[in-house]
Amino acid sequence: DWTMDKFVDKELARIRALVGEKGQVLGAVSGGVDSTVAAKLMHEAIGDRFHAVLVDNGCMRLNECEQVKKTLTEHLGINLTVIDASDLFLDGLKGITDNPEAKRKFIGGTFIDVFEAEALKIEKAAANSPKAGKIEWFLQGTLYPDVIESISFKGPSATIKTHHNVGGLPERMMNGQGLKLIEPLRELFKDEVREMGRKLGIPHDLIMRHPFPGPGIAIRVLGEVTREQVAIARKADYIFIEEIKAAGLYDQISQAFAALLPVKAVGVMGDKRVHQQVISLRAVQTTDFMTANIFRFDWDFLERVSTRIVNEVDGVCRVEYDLTSKPPGTIEME
Ligand code: XMP
Repeated sequence: DWTMDKFVDKELARIRALVGEKGQVLGAVSGGVDSTVAAKLMHEAIGDRFHAVLVDNGCMRLNECEQVKKTLTEHLGINLTVIDASDLFLDGLKGITDNPEAKRKFIGGTFIDVFEAEALKIEKAAANSPKAGKIEWFLQGTLYPDVIESISFKGPSATIKTHHNVGGLPERMMNGQGLKLIEPLRELFKDEVREMGRKLGIPHDLIMRHPFPGPGIAIRVLGEVTREQVAIARKADYIFIEEIKAAGLYDQISQAFAALLPVKAVGVMGDKRVHQQVISLRAVQTTDFMTANIFRFDWDFLERVSTRIVNEVDGVCRVEYDLTSKPPGTIEME
């Protein structure tokens, strides 16, 4: 019968057979569960002949990039290159004011450009190594539900929004450069990926991490994305998640975040009237992310978060809680 231990051994053997003695593999990581588990598995299988790349798009959470880098390199031993492309992303997002789809397309496209340029550099360096051969494989952390979704959602719903997943690459890189796909998680559900991650020694916090979208905070800053707006959303989000963890609620919630609304409201702070922006908090419970219910916090908790955000985040004078389930809402705001 099926056990995770046997499955891991079988996958390691399959990867080694596919890639061979000298073959090399490239993959994108985001710090999320799926890409990290896939990367760790690949590292177990072929060591430093697996090359992981993390693209910093300037829209990650507070300290996230440093943390991911530390965990993947120091703790998990993965051969990782971090590319800071923040300026490229943030400059390019300027002027996209009322078009979530344009935001997503720009971020997805820029990600691929940055990733491709780095891949070419890694390939060149790899080609000169006496110990290893060409990079012929591309690792993708596709799960079973992703496989099903891409088969069954070819209808109008697929056009609602373009998901940018750090795992995915376009034809031009795959076939154009002759990269072949390896998808070691494609038979697994999320809970099984987590189980595999535990077996591979990935820390609990990372295993239980809420999903985070590829475009990051850019789709949680409604309207135009600027450095200032990202900084505000990032701080508010950090406070919200910190309080959720302190209250012991993190593992009961499927996903939670703060979004910054592109409107201003009046408030009083000290003895002055202010005209500042509004933060919207969102937290949901779901098993499949196709439908979701709002998480029912107690009022004291929400009030505490609200007070902290208004006091600690410059430019914000009000906090709201999003009461919309999915459907009709989506989990993200854009
Ligand atoms: P929605 O907003 O469609 O989100 O209800 C469902 C789940 O998908 C995540 N999401 C994304 N993940 N790239 C990703 O990797 C994306 O572009 C993207 N958009 C949404 C969302 O965070 C939620 O978990």
